[in-house]
Amino acid sequence: MFDLDGVVVDTAKYHFIAWKALAEELGFEFTLEDNERLKGVSRMQSLEILLEIGGLQFSESEKMAMAEKKNTLYVSYIEKMTPEETLPGVEKFLQELRTKGIRIALGSASKNAPMILDRIQLTGLFDVIVDGNSISEAKPNPEVFLKGAEKLGVSPEECVVFEDAIAGIEAARNGNMHCVGIGDPEILGLADLVIPGFDGFTVEKLMKELKILPKSKKLGECPELKEKENRPRS
Ligand code: BG6
Ligand code: MG
Repeated sequence: MFDLDGVVVDTAKYHFIAWKALAEELGFEFTLEDNERLKGVSRMQSLEILLEIGGLQFSESEKMAMAEKKNTLYVSYIEKMTPEETLPGVEKFLQELRTKGIRIALGSASKNAPMILDRIQLTGLFDVIVDGNSISEAKPNPEVFLKGAEKLGVSPEECVVFEDAIAGIEAARNGNMHCVGIGDPEILGLADLVIPGFDGFTVEKLMKELKILPKSKKLGECPELKEKENRPRS
């Protein structure tokens, strides 16, 4: 199961431009460091964080209008995205999963996920898409991934989630799924495995590193997985 922003594409730079423009309009500065706090966070929660940084308060209707305005600017960038913006190795890895008969779901907080997948021409590689339009609980709640597993018709324990945000890794763990962090091991230490990106990554490496069992084996028969299962959840 794949997160989208930061895993399949780098949209954080477009979110940054759009949030920064809103902050400037409101009279305060929004930095790249601040932007890190918005990764994996829903649109309205991102706005709350932004307003907290600016020390400002607004009514619900004003906040809705601001989020709408930010999204309009953000969409003006993502609608120009091209397949070249897919992160290195992602398409190859997705193709390999398909060739091996492994089903693929998207589990993203973004309401713009269908448009982004369409622009980078990867929609067809996903068997199931669960995005910000079909969930009510934000990560670290596991809802998005549990829905994905249900739609795929597999149990959570059989799923591997690929995530770049701490909240997403927590969501995977809260949902009892394996999790691969994409990024810095110092930050994503909660994941079962952390890789810098998909370039050179293969299904064989994944199976080996995560010690995933052939489907016929039961969880209890593998000490490593049993130990993983017993780790405290956050
Ligand atoms: C997540 C991003 O995938 O989607 C967040 O990491 C973003 O930064 C969230 O706020 C919601 O996205 P959108 O496209 O619905 O505003
Ligand atoms: Mg992400």
